[in-house]
Amino acid sequence: MDSITSVHVVLFPFMSKGHTIPILHLARLLLLRTGITVTIFTTHANSPFIRQFLGDIQQSLISVIELEFPSNIPELPPGVESTDHLPSMSLFIPFANATKLMQPDFERSLNSLSTSGGVSCIISDGFLGWTQQSAHKSGIPRLVFYGINNYAMTITKVLAMDRSHVGLGPDEPFILSDFPWMKLTLNDFLPVFNGSETEGPHFEFVMETSIATAKSQGLVVNSFYEYESAYLDYYNREFIPKAWCVGPLCLAEVQKFDRPREKPDSIKWLDQKLAEGRSVLYVAFGSQAEITEEQLREMAVGLERSEVSFLWVVRSKGEVLEELEEKVKGRGLVVREWVNQVEILRHESVHGFMSHCGWNSALESICESVPILAWPMMADQHLNARLVADELGVGLRILASNGSVRGFVGSEIVEKMVKELMEGEKGEDVRRKVKEAGEAARKAMEESGSSWRTLDQLINETCRRKD
Ligand code: UDX
Repeated sequence: MDSITSVHVVLFPFMSKGHTIPILHLARLLLLRTGITVTIFTTHANSPFIRQFLGDIQQSLISVIELEFPSNIPELPPGVESTDHLPSMSLFIPFANATKLMQPDFERSLNSLSTSGGVSCIISDGFLGWTQQSAHKSGIPRLVFYGINNYAMTITKVLAMDRSHVGLGPDEPFILSDFPWMKLTLNDFLPVFNGSETEGPHFEFVMETSIATAKSQGLVVNSFYEYESAYLDYYNREFIPKAWCVGPLCLAEVQKFDRPREKPDSIKWLDQKLAEGRSVLYVAFGSQAEITEEQLREMAVGLERSEVSFLWVVRSKGEVLEELEEKVKGRGLVVREWVNQVEILRHESVHGFMSHCGWNSALESICESVPILAWPMMADQHLNARLVADELGVGLRILASNGSVRGFVGSEIVEKMVKELMEGEKGEDVRRKVKEAGEAARKAMEESGSSWRTLDQLINETCRRKD
């Protein structure tokens, strides 16, 4: 690559695991290049996770600056500095708006970094739209990271401009003229993007952050060109700012920094299943999904009846958890605590992933060549599920009992789809395709691969050189 000398990148992830983890992988990737130093901004409460995640990275190359998260927001429970710990995602907007109060503190720290050697560029989360103003004031280019893929980004933008669908029923299929192969429904999109929500705090938040993104220098996308070329090319032809594919970022994990440690119980359980010659389905719905107790019970019945062994990470609290543990005892293991998801997906016994299709989870599964049973819950996940099942063919899709992409899913559907993924004919095809996809992803991240080269190019073009 061209010589990159003395580049100092400021990273500012949003305060949720799904947004923070890929940025931390990006930090690792940046540090694999000579001459780059990184500073990560976060809050006090999020800092221990970040420091632990970064682990053995050379301290002289990376530093973490902790900002004070506002403690006096009436809607928010005191001490909560991550959306993962909010009692309900209905508090997302007050939380996201509260981050704006960190702006003066952020700018003070940015100024002192600028005087002590300079900042080449800021890569901050799209939800932290106010950092655009801070970057502008300091004359530093800002790149935006959302954590979503080109497909979701492109389709959502096109939909927002093509109003022909407005007024359709939520499950009524329609086509966007530039993508005639895709049968979409309004239910695939958040109300704020599909034209059914045109005012209110969420709408205003999306407007505000989108305007800030439009003023930025570019988008850093956690995906790889070979698998989304049609959408990335379309996006860069039709929209600004330019999008750069530099992922799958989760592959940064295995490149240089792994170290041995004590095996957690979940891995020991998987070892045991492997020794028994059993294939395991991994079941997890990310860090934020809110699933009703009724749905959890139905899921347990379906999993149990599928007769497949499964490892189920459940975030819900209370009595329902004990009930589930009792119900699935023998066939499944229910895990309550935070697990190392990549380590689980990499385990030889794991042959399927029932997932909410958060984009990190989907990518992690693809990279480990594990086929996906897509059960999206919120945000971009419905579009991710379409990408995974309909476009890439690396997963099967769970639909609600009434055929909609949203709604209650009966145990008979869970049972049937689990069997299909793990043993069925359609599953066979999906297993083959996910293997190919995994190989392509790994190739993209090699030093001669598309994502590696794109990141080099992005740094060279966007980050200010100081000498
Ligand atoms: C959210 C959105 O749902 C997602 O679509 C968006 O792209 C990012 O923000 P989240 O719901 O948290 O993300 O899911 P996901 O994108 O899958 O990210 C979760 C991350 O946490 C993954 O990297 C996963 O490996 C990790 N994780 C989760 C663990 O390592 N252990 C756990 O126990 C749970």
